[in-house]
Order: sequence, then C-alpha cells, then structure tokens
Amino acid sequence: MKISFKSSADADIQAFIVDEAAGLPEVAKSLDEASGGLLAEALSAERFTGKLGQHAIVVMPKSAETRRAVLMGGGKPGDRKPATYERIGAELIKSQAMSGFKSLAVNVDDASDAASVATGAKLAAYRFDTYRTKMKDEQKPSLTDLVVVTDKPKQADDAFEPLDAETAGTYLARDLMNEPPNILHPESFAERVKDLHLEGLEIEVLGEKKMNELGMGSLLGVGQGSVRESQLAIMKWNGGGSEDPVCLVGKGVCFDTGGISLKPGPQMEDMKGDMGGAAAVTGAMLALARRKAKANVVGLIGLVENMPDGNAQRPGDIVTSASGQTIEIQNTDAEGRLVLADVLWYAQEHFKPRAIVDLATLTGAIVISLGHEHAGLFSNNDELAGALSKAGETSGESVWRMPLGDTYDGLLKSRFADMRNIGGRAAGSITAAQFLQRFVNKDVAWAHLDIAGVAWKEGNSKPATDPSWPSGFGPRLLSRWIAENYEG
Ligand code: BES
Ligand code: MN
Ligand code: ZN
Repeated sequence: MKISFKSSADADIQAFIVDEAAGLPEVAKSLDEASGGLLAEALSAERFTGKLGQHAIVVMPKSAETRRAVLMGGGKPGDRKPATYERIGAELIKSQAMSGFKSLAVNVDDASDAASVATGAKLAAYRFDTYRTKMKDEQKPSLTDLVVVTDKPKQADDAFEPLDAETAGTYLARDLMNEPPNILHPESFAERVKDLHLEGLEIEVLGEKKMNELGMGSLLGVGQGSVRESQLAIMKWNGGGSEDPVCLVGKGVCFDTGGISLKPGPQMEDMKGDMGGAAAVTGAMLALARRKAKANVVGLIGLVENMPDGNAQRPGDIVTSASGQTIEIQNTDAEGRLVLADVLWYAQEHFKPRAIVDLATLTGAIVISLGHEHAGLFSNNDELAGALSKAGETSGESVWRMPLGDTYDGLLKSRFADMRNIGGRAAGSITAAQFLQRFVNKDVAWAHLDIAGVAWKEGNSKPATDPSWPSGFGPRLLSRWIAENYEG
C-alpha cells in the first residue's frame, strides 16, 4: 500500500475522525453539504457516538466523486495518544482494505498524529500470502493508496520516516516468523540475514566448525539432531562513532520439536515461531539501519533446529558451554536457554556491551503468568529495566518486570554438573532467566525479554495493528529504547 501526505486529495473514500459526543468535524462539512446532509444524518441516525473503535460508513450519491465517507470514532480528543492514532489508522484499514475501492483519504489535523495514523494503517495492511495459489480477486485487498490529508504534509512526512523504518522491522519479523520451517531453517535464515548488508549492516555468520573451535557445546548440542547446520549470525550497525555497542541477542530455534523430550502433537506447528527472538533482533537491526540510528548496535542470533534423531542430544547428557561451565541436560525441550548461553558469552567476549538485551520465546510459563499482554522482563539492572519499561509504553510493545533471586537460582543445582537446564515445575520463567544470568558477567547491564506470550497471540484479543499470525513484537520496542537512551 502506497502512503502519502497531502494538503488535499480526491479519493474513492474520504475518512474523518469524529470526537466522542461532538458533531461533525469542520473538515467533513463540505462533503456533508455536497451529499445533501448524509454525513450528519449518519451521526444522528446510527448508534454512533464517536467512541474509539466505532465507525460508520456512508454511501455517497452516485454522481459524487467520493463514493464513500467513513466516520471513525476517535474517543475524547484529550485522551488521544500516538497509539490511539495508530489504532484509528489500523481500524480504517481493517474496515476498508477489502471494500472494493482503491484510494482512501483520511483527514488528520496535526502532522505527528497524521504520521501515527499512517503507521497504524501500514501495520494493519500487512499480509502474508506467499503460499496461496488459489486466491480470487475478491480475497485480495483492493485498497492501494492511502493519503493522509493534513495541513503540514512535509512535517508529517518527516515524522513518518523513522516510524516507517520501524514498521519495516515489524514486517520483516512477521515475514520471518510466517515462513514455514521447511523453508526457513538455520541455513536459509542466515542467508536472509546476509542480504541485509544491502541496508548498510555489517554481517558475519559462523557455522558449526567455527562454533566448535569456540567451544560452543551448549548451542551445538541443541542442533545436533538436525540435518541443518546451526548458525550464529552477527549484524552490526555502526551509527555512533567510537563508543561501545549495545548488544541484542535473539533465540532462533527455527523449529522446536522438543527433541528427545518430544512435545505433544497439537499446535506443534506453532513452534516454527520459536525463532521469534531472532526475528525481533533482525527486524530491529533493519529498523535501525533504515532510520540511520546514531548508535552502535550489534545483533547476535543463534540459529538452530531442535529435532529428535539418532544423533540428537539426550536427557542425561552433559555439555560444556563456551564459558567453560558444564550443563546437565534434563529436558531437551528446554533448549532456548542452551542456545542463548553461548550467544550471550560470545557477545561479552567480542564486544564490550554497554547493555545486553536478549529476546526469546523461552517458556510456556510466561504465557500462564502474563498472557498475551506483556512480555516478561528480567534484569540485573534497575535503570535498564526502567528504560525498557518506558520504551514499552511509548511503542505499545509492553513489558512487565518479573523477579530474580538466589533461591530461584538454587533450583538449577545438578547432581553431576555445574547446573541442570531446568528448575522443576515452579516458577518456570524465572528459573529460565536465572539460567541465562549464569552466563552474564556481574558488571554487565543485562535484560531478558521472554516473548513467548506476545510473539503470536490467539484469537480475538488481537488489535487491528496486529493482523497476521505473528505480531512482529520487538523491533519497535528496541528501536524506541535505543532512540530514547543511546542516541545523544
Ligand atoms: N519454545 C518453548 C517455549 C514456548 C512455549 C514458546 C509455548 C511459545 C509457546 C521452549 O523451548 C520450551 O519448550 N520450554 C519448555 C521448558 C520446560 C521444558 C522447562 C516449556 O515452557 O514447557
Ligand atoms: Mn523447547
Ligand atoms: Zn523453544
């Protein structure tokens, strides 16, 4: 969908934001007159109060150039935030994308609000139809042009540019997660990362030979039952001069069968999304490159496939991580932490990170704790936790802090090795985070985001900005956090 900002526009559909319990807005008056008062009538005749999320469609007389008017409820003007305008843009697309009409103009007063409406619309317009060969025309969106009509189009365009860079990150994260696991596996994911050098990112990919030399027995053990080679992909964005970088680390389990501790069948197909952390980091790196962020950021993603096989890792195996610490595998399905352990080590060994944030679809337990509303946030640093929470609010990708502590850490004791890879039934998300913390140096500011509940969401609680199976959670949050804390 093509999005532009103009001071006026003709279009098949004209949309207006209507304040709650107010009359028709000034901008809609001329169309109302031309239609013989149809807009005003719609306002009084229908149960339309202008509440956020409501909309009314007005069919214009045949002779009119505008074929439809859409009145979008905007709620109380004083309550509106950027996210509210995003929602309005998204609801507009949700209701009109398949309408049969091609062009839509939406009228928004303020330039930055106009940019938010456009962003919401773009997020809502996402589709993944790559593998549908039998789509009829009426199953495809008709809307190709969105014009946001505003007094200061140039200013709106400027405000939209960085937001659109972030949306590109969200799109990429969604695409990667939507791809089926026979197509997107560790090797092909790494190839797609390599393509990002065209965006100005510096890319390095390590294969199994190199990771073996580095002693990454923890990561390699997970991929050992797969015919696909495990990969560590590193993406660097150097926009900040000589300062030390921020590191973003992602869990990239391209498919998680559970391994020998095999998962049950129902819904196992969703485990193609177990690379959601890696997708978030990759999307964030694209967003940073597109908006030319003034910061140094390194993204590191551990790409593996967790399969049962004659060569697969067993419960009882003991592996040695690159940090030197040994791990008794008690459940091969607790594999994400094993991957992250070695990637976290690599990040600290090769860069002097000012902060590390890892993202992972790590535990089913976090879905039980927080549902699909917030990602779980774990951190050894209050300032970092606060900054991420704030960026969560401004980006709409929200996080909720969870505790860490020595007693939880004690649950990881093993009879044979330095630790075991599970902590028992209680506090599953916390013991997973404790496991990760064992691979983070005490003086490094670190945060872990367990995104298992937000990377994809079930059913009817999904906002209009989240139209596909995966939400694409992460790039907007990470880009905002970097903008708010590391760009001067
Ligand atoms: N990838 C899963 C976690 C997951 C579950 C993500 C549901 C998204 C939705 C992870 O690798 C896993 O299997 N975790 C186990 C850990 C357990 C064996 C300690 C879990 O949560 O059951
Ligand atoms: Mn698992
Ligand atoms: Zn997993």
